[in-house]
Amino acid sequence: MKVGIITVSDKGFNGERDDLSGPAIRQGLAADSFEYIIVPDEIPQITAAVINLVDVKNCDLVLTTGGTGLSRRDVTPEATRQVIDREIPGIAEIIRFESYKMKPTAALSRALSGSRGKSLIINLPGSPKAVKECLAILLPIIPHALEILEKGSAECGKIMALQ
Ligand code: MTE
Repeated sequence: MKVGIITVSDKGFNGERDDLSGPAIRQGLAADSFEYIIVPDEIPQITAAVINLVDVKNCDLVLTTGGTGLSRRDVTPEATRQVIDREIPGIAEIIRFESYKMKPTAALSRALSGSRGKSLIINLPGSPKAVKECLAILLPIIPHALEILEKGSAECGKIMALQ
C-alpha cells in the first residue's frame, strides 16, 4: 500500500510551526511507501496535491490532516469535494461519531472522505492527537475499502487486517 500524506496548514507551510500531524500519520500506518507534502489552506494547492498523489504518484490512500473545521481558512473539505469521484460519507461520519466520545468538538469537523479512481481519500483533523485517534477508528475499515476499490467488486465476507 502506498500512502500519500497532505498536511494542510498555513503555519506549517510558512515554516511557522513544525508539522507533527504528518509524521503522526506515518507512524500510525504500516505501508510499503509514503509520499508527504505540506500545503497552505488554499483550495488550488490542496486539490493539486491530491491529484498529484493519486494520478501521478499512484497512492492507494491519501490522508489529509488539518483545515476541516470552522475557521475562516479551513477549506480542506471544499477542496476534497472537487477531486473525489464518489463521496464515502460513512467514513467521515464514523470518525466524527467515535471521536465525539473522546472530544465532543469533534462534531465540528467538516471532514469528507471519498474515492478518486481506485484511491481512497480521507480528511483527518489537524492535531497529532486527533490523527492518532482517527487512525485507530480507520484501521478496521481501510483494507476492505482499498480491496473493493482495487478489484472493483466486493467479497465482503473477507476483511483483511491492516496491521
Ligand atoms: N477528532 C478527534 N478524534 N480528536 C480531536 O481532538 N478535534 C476537533 C475535531 N475532531 C478533534 C477531532 C476539533 S477541536 C476541531 S476544531 C475539528 O476537529 C477540526 O479540526 P481541524 O480544523 O484541525 O481539521
